[in-house]
Amino acid sequence: MNKPFVIAIDGPAASGKGSLAKRLAKELEFDFLDTGALYRRIALHTLESGIDPSNTEAVIEAAQNFGDELAKDYDDSALRNDGVGNAASIVAQIPEIRQILFNFQQNFAKNSEKGAVLDGRDIATVICPDADLKLFITASTEKRAERRHKELQSRGLDATYEAVLAEMQERDERDNVRLKDHMDPNVDNHTIDTSEMNPDDVFQRALDFYKSSSR
Ligand code: CDP
Repeated sequence: MNKPFVIAIDGPAASGKGSLAKRLAKELEFDFLDTGALYRRIALHTLESGIDPSNTEAVIEAAQNFGDELAKDYDDSALRNDGVGNAASIVAQIPEIRQILFNFQQNFAKNSEKGAVLDGRDIATVICPDADLKLFITASTEKRAERRHKELQSRGLDATYEAVLAEMQERDERDNVRLKDHMDPNVDNHTIDTSEMNPDDVFQRALDFYKSSSR
């Protein structure tokens, strides 16, 4: 049996990595894993259980019981709000939580049939260091806040651009501090700055990288 082709996509919030990952997976008929959603699901479970996300011990206990839930279907729309996003970035700082999700993510990549696309923050460095293609998708903070603001508005959610920008900066800072250990400047990835690109151009660029790295 051939080893599945693994595409690792990392990058900050609202850089466009999620929609790119989904589209690539569809095009190539690969399995797709949104790893941020795993952290968000644990965060939502924590919030719904009345646990403060910064109560590390209680979060770990709740997540241990949640392990079997990870392979099940879930309601993505319940995860897509900044309250859950912020709680996700807090629980993601707990090493035990990352460990629980580590096995799940690695097995997902290993057990995929033809190939897998995983998007997150530490896929190329920690989860799939042997990935066949590593992409880093980024954009300026202002552009990312603009996109997130538009997305919230289109879903009828009320928030000012300034508030979204402030939350984005706060989350970036937390992620950057924590992910320092996971970032390797020598990791051999392809960076795409999407600040001035539309989604079709980003997709084409990524597809070109895939074609030139394809085994
Ligand atoms: O799309 P967005 O970046 O807003 O959020 P996400 O990808 O769903 O991730 C939510 C949070 O989970 C991030 O802010 C990170 O703190 C954390 N995360 C992580 O630590 N490692 C990953 N592989 C994915 C997400």
